[in-house]
Amino acid sequence: MSNQPRVLVTRLIPEAGLERVRQACEVTVWAEDMPAPYERLLDLVKGMDGLLCTLTERIDAGLMDAAGPQLKVISQMAVGYDNIDVAAARTRGIPIGNTPGVLTDATADIAMALLLAVSRRIVESVDYIRTGQWQTWQPTALLGTDLAGATLGLIGLGRIGKAVARRARGFDLRLIAHSPHCPPEEAHALGVELVELDYLLSEADYVSIHTPLNERTRHLINRKTLAQMKPSAILINTARGGVVDQHALYEALQAGKLRGAGLDVTDPEPIPLDDPLLGLPNVVILPHIGSASQRTRDRMAMMAADNLIAGVTGQPLPTQVK
Ligand code: DGY
Repeated sequence: MSNQPRVLVTRLIPEAGLERVRQACEVTVWAEDMPAPYERLLDLVKGMDGLLCTLTERIDAGLMDAAGPQLKVISQMAVGYDNIDVAAARTRGIPIGNTPGVLTDATADIAMALLLAVSRRIVESVDYIRTGQWQTWQPTALLGTDLAGATLGLIGLGRIGKAVARRARGFDLRLIAHSPHCPPEEAHALGVELVELDYLLSEADYVSIHTPLNERTRHLINRKTLAQMKPSAILINTARGGVVDQHALYEALQAGKLRGAGLDVTDPEPIPLDDPLLGLPNVVILPHIGSASQRTRDRMAMMAADNLIAGVTGQPLPTQVK
């Protein structure tokens, strides 16, 4: 038996990260395409010194206890960690690592892609051709909304919100943001005006969500807040599905109280195929691909590996959740 730390990697992560882990640890990898069922994870995690997980696993007190008291670190290959019971980890003295920074640009790109896709009806237009509806150039067909001169409201002006702001400036959007913890000078430097949420919702032509999912933000976008938005507005969510009450979103879209929505994240994931949102032409839904570029996923895997290895060897984690 090797005397290397024993670790469980819950998904097949990019080789760049896995190789680092293999060099320092005795690794068990769950290599199936689908995530391991929770009951299976309870078995696999037994006796592990470290856990490298992703957002598809529920990491709760039961799982930490199933691992045993030797569990030294939980390393999440994502910046968001709402799948992990942080309080339970804290009580047990287990540090949690995440991967901030490396996925900022990729995620901001997807927010812009959704903004353009919904405002200019890109997916509808592709379908228009595919279904044989394109007969001629038509002066009044498939008209969308402009970005230049319109107002983009960012809910959250952290790393990703700021990266979206930088991109949006290039499209000549006016920028406002609601972000209680953002220093005004940082917003100002990006040409963003910090405002109250009520004002943002009533003023923005496009609203883009960049806040983590937690008790304060769950269903932040609900029937009431949707009603505050302009009927001509478009909602973009690349954060977490749980920030939006999807039922209320469907009702608003169906009733013409909102122009459209672009979602990279849903609740649940995957979105069930019979979800009525999938039937709306003014909604674009992606399968949570915000960070899905090769370079970004490689970097996330390497960062998660570094956090894991630091944790099992008793070092401070390079990026630890506070
Ligand atoms: C994250 O890192 O939280 C992203 O959602 C993964 O794409």
